[in-house]
Amino acid sequence: MGKTLVAPSILAADFADFGGALASVEASGADWIHLDVMDWHFVPNLTFGPKLAEDLRRRSAFFFDAHLMVENPERAIEAFAPWADAITFHVEATERPRELLLRLRALGKKAGLSLSPATPASALDDFLPYTDIALVMTVNPGWGGQAFIPECLEKIRHLERARAERGLDFVISVDGGINEATASAAIAAGADALVAGSAFFSAQDKAAFVRGIKALG
Ligand code: DX5
Ligand code: ZN
Repeated sequence: MGKTLVAPSILAADFADFGGALASVEASGADWIHLDVMDWHFVPNLTFGPKLAEDLRRRSAFFFDAHLMVENPERAIEAFAPWADAITFHVEATERPRELLLRLRALGKKAGLSLSPATPASALDDFLPYTDIALVMTVNPGWGGQAFIPECLEKIRHLERARAERGLDFVISVDGGINEATASAAIAAGADALVAGSAFFSAQDKAAFVRGIKALG
């Protein structure tokens, strides 16, 4: 009980008050803050660049979990590395995931690799030994507030099996459409960390929301 990591996504925050959003995440008892970076190319939406992470870092030593939904993530990795604790990029966005994962570790960062709903979990298999966070997207990347795609649960199970069978050690994070009901299904499938945008920021009592998720597993 209570070992699940909770990572509220700033995507659902008031973009005119990122500092306030960070403070509310920290006060809630959540573990990480999830920073969704979108480039208007890899996904049809645009969010923010590294200056936001830099300015938030000046306020706080909290764990910054950057999720890069960008094409050619090489440059973004270098730009976010000084400010983020974990950086996750998409396997669909680069020809050289292994090299980038190793680069992230060399920079002293947790190295994250993600996949969109249309990508099979086996696309990550070759890279799992170099991965600290495997991020399973359970909505199509681009927007918050979408419905969880239950077919993606099988990918969480695939990763959990691969981890056990190959004696690997990475966090399985699940992102998209997480609320108490879908959190429970994701945890049962093997999720260790849950990203929640709309459900967290729309909760009247954010600490109760985080406790509720942690009470599931
Ligand atoms: C979607 C983002 C998610 C999103 C989750 O492209 O990667 O992190 O913010 O938001 P909800 O929880 O509203 O689905
Ligand atoms: Zn995300």
